[in-house]
Amino acid sequence: MHHFEYRGGELYAEDVPVSTLVAAYGTPLYVYSAATLRRHFTAFDSAFNGLPHLTCYSVKANSNLSVLKTLAAQGAGMDIVSGGELYRALAAGVDPAKIVYSGVGKRAVEIEAALTAGILMFNVESTGELDRLSAIATRLGKTAKVSIRINPDVDPKTHPYISTGLKKNKFGLDIEHSLAAYAKAQELPGVTPVGIDCHIGSQLTSIAPFLEALDKILTFREKLTAMGIETTYLDLGGGLGIQYNEEEPPHPREFGQALTKALGTLPLTLILEPGRVIVGNAGILVTEAIYTKKTPSKDFIIVDAGMNDLIRPSLYDSYHAIREVRPAGRPAINVDVVGPICESGDFLARDRDLPAVAPGELLAVFSAGAYGFTMASNYNSRPRAAEILVDGETVTVARRRETYDDLIALER
Ligand code: LLP
Repeated sequence: MHHFEYRGGELYAEDVPVSTLVAAYGTPLYVYSAATLRRHFTAFDSAFNGLPHLTCYSVKANSNLSVLKTLAAQGAGMDIVSGGELYRALAAGVDPAKIVYSGVGKRAVEIEAALTAGILMFNVESTGELDRLSAIATRLGKTAKVSIRINPDVDPKTHPYISTGLKKNKFGLDIEHSLAAYAKAQELPGVTPVGIDCHIGSQLTSIAPFLEALDKILTFREKLTAMGIETTYLDLGGGLGIQYNEEEPPHPREFGQALTKALGTLPLTLILEPGRVIVGNAGILVTEAIYTKKTPSKDFIIVDAGMNDLIRPSLYDSYHAIREVRPAGRPAINVDVVGPICESGDFLARDRDLPAVAPGELLAVFSAGAYGFTMASNYNSRPRAAEILVDGETVTVARRRETYDDLIALER
């Protein structure tokens, strides 16, 4: 459920017509709905009310400060993967005691900044990282709380680029080597193992792989307990999918019920790192048709948003629903919706049945709130889009449109 609805024949973002936003801020334009963000966060977080838990929104999905502030105001913690994301989370006023730090390549300066900020814990992905973390913490006179990221070798049945919990992936440590890593963490002076971490992939549309991973982790946890290592946190990562097209992902409620049942009365605080399920359907990308073009084999709608604005269709062949901002009731034709970038891979949709829109008309690309703007670039020297947050009738320019001066500002 989201708050992008048609009223009186045109698309609204909450109580504001999308065309009004475009008149003021131009295209391409990312538009987010604050009510949807709050609704999704609450639906997800409350699904775990039966367990001690902390929901750490995964900043990488959408790291705009206005989005982070909206979620922090709901009590969200944050899952970060870089010094930049730490900086953003702190700037948004997130309580450092609710921040977990994941990622395979944490640099020394980033580790130091996170220790200084006093984050809740580090999700450690290698023994080299344990050594480095211990050394830095010792130098700072601190002890870092750590979970080790276990790779449970579970197939999440999602796109290969966003599967992370298979043996062949670079993430975490395989179960066999993880016991030794915990023993090492127990020995090292600057770290204390307090939890177990795992993240198996993104856009999962079934609960079964999560339960399979959880099962392996709980067995692993018993071995740790037998070694005298007590863990009180269990971080299951993110990954719950959303509906882009015809997928039928489980509702967070079902996810919560399944985990609550599996964890029973174990003395654990569950940490979750949802990204897409919170922001994915809370954002659209609005674009204007520039030209239409007919070749002997295809009809094209050339729009002013390209793969630099939304790379998901090009990179993962992913589906995003596209609809007219002001539907005109024309019959559908089969088209490719393509951007202005000089690559054949620059498309938002291929072989899609859409009304034959005319140049100057607006299209809305749905489910663009997650991994949309955060993966945008300046390729082809295109200034990045503006981001707008709508809350009821209130409109906030969450990020102004980049200018040509911005494009060259750091160069000489
Ligand atoms: N935690 C960790 C350790 C992660 O690596 C990720 C996502 C998340 C949480 C959040 O996962 P989510 O709840 O959003 O599925 N760019 C791709 C998705 C990459 C996901 C990377 N890791 C896409 O556009 O589909």
